Amino acid sequence: AVVVGRRVRRRRKWGKVLGVLREVEEGCETSVGRLKQVVDAMAVEMHAGLASEGGSKLRMLLTFVDNLPSGSEKGTYYALHLGGTYFRMLRVKPEGQRSLALARDVERQLIPQHLMTSTTEDLFDFIASSLKEFVEREENGSAFPLDRRRELGFTFSYPVKQTSVSSGILIKWTKGFAIEDMVGKDVVDCLQQALTRKGLSMRVSALVDFPSLVNDTVGTLALGHYHDADTVAAVIIGTGTNACYVERMDAIIKCQGILTSSGGMVVNMEWGNFWSSHLPRTSYDIDLDANSPNPNEQGFEKMISGMYLGDIVRRVLLRMSQESDILGPVSPKLLTPFILRTPLVASMHEDDSPDLAKVAKILGDTLEIPDVPLKVRKLVVNVCDVVTRRAARLAAAGIVGILKKIGRDGSGGITSGRSRSDVRIKRTAVAIEGGLYTNYAMFREYLNEAMVEILGEDAAEQVILEVMEDGSGIGASLLAASHASHGPDAAQ
Ligand code: GLC
Repeated sequence: AVVVGRRVRRRRKWGKVLGVLREVEEGCETSVGRLKQVVDAMAVEMHAGLASEGGSKLRMLLTFVDNLPSGSEKGTYYALHLGGTYFRMLRVKPEGQRSLALARDVERQLIPQHLMTSTTEDLFDFIASSLKEFVEREENGSAFPLDRRRELGFTFSYPVKQTSVSSGILIKWTKGFAIEDMVGKDVVDCLQQALTRKGLSMRVSALVDFPSLVNDTVGTLALGHYHDADTVAAVIIGTGTNACYVERMDAIIKCQGILTSSGGMVVNMEWGNFWSSHLPRTSYDIDLDANSPNPNEQGFEKMISGMYLGDIVRRVLLRMSQESDILGPVSPKLLTPFILRTPLVASMHEDDSPDLAKVAKILGDTLEIPDVPLKVRKLVVNVCDVVTRRAARLAAAGIVGILKKIGRDGSGGITSGRSRSDVRIKRTAVAIEGGLYTNYAMFREYLNEAMVEILGEDAAEQVILEVMEDGSGIGASLLAASHASHGPDAAQ
C-alpha cells in the first residue's frame, strides 16, 4: 500500500508540474495571428510617438543623424561604447573603400558591477582612465602627444534626449544601471570632463555638426549602411533590446521645422519600452517587472532581452520546484534573482548530448540542484525553449512593425487585380547586433522562422538580416569619420 501510495503521489506531482508547463506555454503563445497584431500595434505606436512628445510609450527619439556612412570614409578614429554588460574601446581605420575587413582594434571589458550603481564621476573616471590606457597602448611609441586631439565617437546605449549630434541628456537608466545623479545630465559633458581630469584630449563635442554621441542602434545602422546601402533599420538584441530606422522628416510631426540635407533622420525608437495589450504576458513577467528597479518600464525588453530571459526561466523552475519535489527540496539558489544568466539558458537549450549532461551540470553548479533525472532535464530544456521562442518571435514582430511603418513589408500598394503574392518589396537590409542574436542559434532560428511566417516567403526573401559585429562602436567611429575634418588636428 505504501508503494502504491508513493506512486500515486509522484504521479500527482508530475501532473502539477506539467500543468505549470502547459500554463506557461499557453501564456507565451505567439501564433502568427497574434504576432501580426503586435506588428500592427508597433506601427501604430510608432505613428503616435512621432506625432507628439509623450504620445506613446515608444519615445521615438531624434538622433540628428541625417546622413549615414557611404563607404568612402578615411582616417583613424576612436570609439567608446558603453553597453549594458561590456565597455568597449575601438580604433578604426577606414580606407575609403567599402571593405569587409575594416581595420580595427577592439578591447572589451566587463563593466564592474559596483560602477553601475555608483556616481557619475566614478563611472566616467573609470571610462576615461581605460580609454587613456587604450590610446597609449594603441599608439605605443608614437610621438603624437596625449593632449593632442583625436576624434572620438561615443556610443551610449541608454535613452538620451538629443538636441544635436554632439550632446544629449540622459532620460532614464535601463538594464540595471542606477546612477541617480546622472539622470538629466548631458552625457557628453560628463565624458568630456572626465577626459580633461585624466589629461586626454579627444574631440567629443567640439564641432556642432560632429556626430559624437550615438545610441548603439544608430552605430549599428551606420555600419550596416557602410556595408550595404539598402540598410534602413538596425536592431540590438543583447542585454537590452532596441531599434532605430531612417524616417522621412515630414513624418516626424513632433519636430516640424527642422530641415536635414537628406530629408530624413535616424529615429531611435527605444522599443524596449513598447507596450501593447496583444503581448503575451504571464504571471512570471508581472512578478519580474514588479521586482525590477524600473517597474512598468521596458515591458517589451523584459520579454525579449538577455538581461531578463534567464530570470524568467528561473521563475518558472522555482514555481515547478515549489509545486512538487521533482527538483528536490526548493534550492535557495532558485530564490536568488538573476542567478541563472541567459547564456546558461542558451547552453541548456542547445545541449545536444544524449543524456543532457550540460543541463545537469548547470542545474548542479549554478542552481545547486543535484542529480536531476533525464526526464526532468528534458522538462527544463522545454521551459528554456518556450521562453526563448516567445522572445525571438516578438522581436521578429517588432522588426516587421518597422518595415510596415515604412512600407517595406510587402503589404502595401496592392492594386485591384493583383494578388498579394504579386506585390514586390524593395530589397531591404536590417543590421543586427547583440549577443542574444549572435551567440544563441536557437534564438536566431526562431526569429528568422517567424519573419517568414509573418511576411510570407516572397516578401521575407527581400528582407536581409545582417549581423554587424561590433557595429555599435565601429559605426559611431564611421559617423565621426564621415563628418570630421581631416585637418592637422585630426588623428593620424
Ligand atoms: C536599452 C536602452 C537602449 C539600447 C538598448 C540596447 O533598451 O534603453 O538605449 O539601445 O538597451 O542596448
